[in-house]
Amino acid sequence: MISETLKKARDYEAKHMSDVSSEERPLFHVTAPIGWLNDPNGFSFYKGQFHLFFQYHPFSSHWGPMHWGHVASSDLLTWNALPCAIAPDEVYDNFGCFSGSGIALPDGRHMLMYTGVQTKDGFKDRSDMEQQQCIAFGDGIDYEKYEHNPVIRMADVTDGIGGIKTDFRDPKIWQEADGTFYTVAAGMDPEGNGRALLFKSSDALNWTFESELSASHGKLGRMWECPDFYELDGKYILAVSLMNVHPDGMFHVGHNTAYMIGTFDHADGKFVSEMIRPLDEGIDFYAPQSVLAPDGRRIMISWMQCWSNASFIPDDVKIFGQMSIPREVFLRDGMLWQRPIREIESHRGSCVTYKNVCVEGEKTFDGISGRVLDMTLLIRPEEAKKLMIKVAADERYDTQILYYPQKNVLRLDRSNGGFDVDMVHTRNIPVETVDGCLKLRILMDRYSAEIFVNDGRHTATVLYPTPLSAEDIIFEADGRCTVDIEKYDLQF
Ligand code: FRU
Repeated sequence: MISETLKKARDYEAKHMSDVSSEERPLFHVTAPIGWLNDPNGFSFYKGQFHLFFQYHPFSSHWGPMHWGHVASSDLLTWNALPCAIAPDEVYDNFGCFSGSGIALPDGRHMLMYTGVQTKDGFKDRSDMEQQQCIAFGDGIDYEKYEHNPVIRMADVTDGIGGIKTDFRDPKIWQEADGTFYTVAAGMDPEGNGRALLFKSSDALNWTFESELSASHGKLGRMWECPDFYELDGKYILAVSLMNVHPDGMFHVGHNTAYMIGTFDHADGKFVSEMIRPLDEGIDFYAPQSVLAPDGRRIMISWMQCWSNASFIPDDVKIFGQMSIPREVFLRDGMLWQRPIREIESHRGSCVTYKNVCVEGEKTFDGISGRVLDMTLLIRPEEAKKLMIKVAADERYDTQILYYPQKNVLRLDRSNGGFDVDMVHTRNIPVETVDGCLKLRILMDRYSAEIFVNDGRHTATVLYPTPLSAEDIIFEADGRCTVDIEKYDLQF
């Protein structure tokens, strides 16, 4: 039996999905069937397929009462839309089913763990709100909420610090080899500082507070959203999405994503961070979540958007929000590197290459253009003070990728990408050369470019609402440099 609320969402998406023309969607990045999408949720492998859920408001292109949308895929690139999975239809989630995670249970069921946001009397102010962790069980299509929800509340955090019940969300669940379940959720201490809180369970139903895994202590923004925690090559990674950051050279003002590399002691449940860095240094990347694939790869996907820009929504759009490409993460030189999932390579079509070509002033190359492509540039700066690569360009529009070799800076500038509002349009990314070269792999899918710098040591992600007719790629160097270009069209 599905609730009226869920039925309404399912009927609505079935009816309106086809209102969105194929040009309005990217080719291989996940979008909502209709309406608004934010964080990836419930990213998990279940019954031979990857399942991805997302924060979803089908009824408009703006954030609203949160449902969980649902897609599934066997290759992480071609996704099948499935019916809306859960809706805010219970007292304990009457304000929304916020972010969370998914896991295949040993008994064959799929379990979703999410934040039920409850308000009293129709939400008069924030103090009326409680965020609490809830679960639902399903078969990969239909999900039923657990009769004893919620399963974790802020009142269960018994360490004497506790936290604010209005900010306690985004549980990420996993199971250890000995069968024990853990979940890490984002909390906020009474002073307003982010905490990552760890809980433990033997059956995934009854949870006890284990420890404060890590905390901001006033240093890294305020609330930490969407914690993700996993082992990678003998180290532990804690990824968090930070709110209200003051700029400090490494992080920019406002919302950021960060990862920490460190050690984890099961005995005291503490993560000790040895280093911290931004996860993506571009403009549009937030709330990433990872899954361990059956072949051992750790694959991360994120909302390809950020909150500070997410209220500028043109009136005529029917869908808003898309996911990044799933990325393989790995450790190298003591850092977390990312590469696009290798499955993308089987979608490569015709290839155009240039070797060691000189760029001085403006230059275009036969066959180097398009809006859906996988292009790698090896740049030898030589005498250049600046190299600009304009993508999604024509006489009117462009998004600029600028490289300043003497300053070791890569700059993104999408001011001319088709926006008509004054929001964040630029970012500077500190980069380094390897053997005198800068390597950029640029993955474009209609309205976005994801840039993997030096084989994935840095990434920078950017969206642009540029008309699809703008498909030139133009190089312009101030001083002489040489480049190798390898460009593949991507076919789906
Ligand atoms: C992060 C976030 C989460 C929350 C969800 C609500 O983008 O704010 O913390 O669960 O979005 O849609």
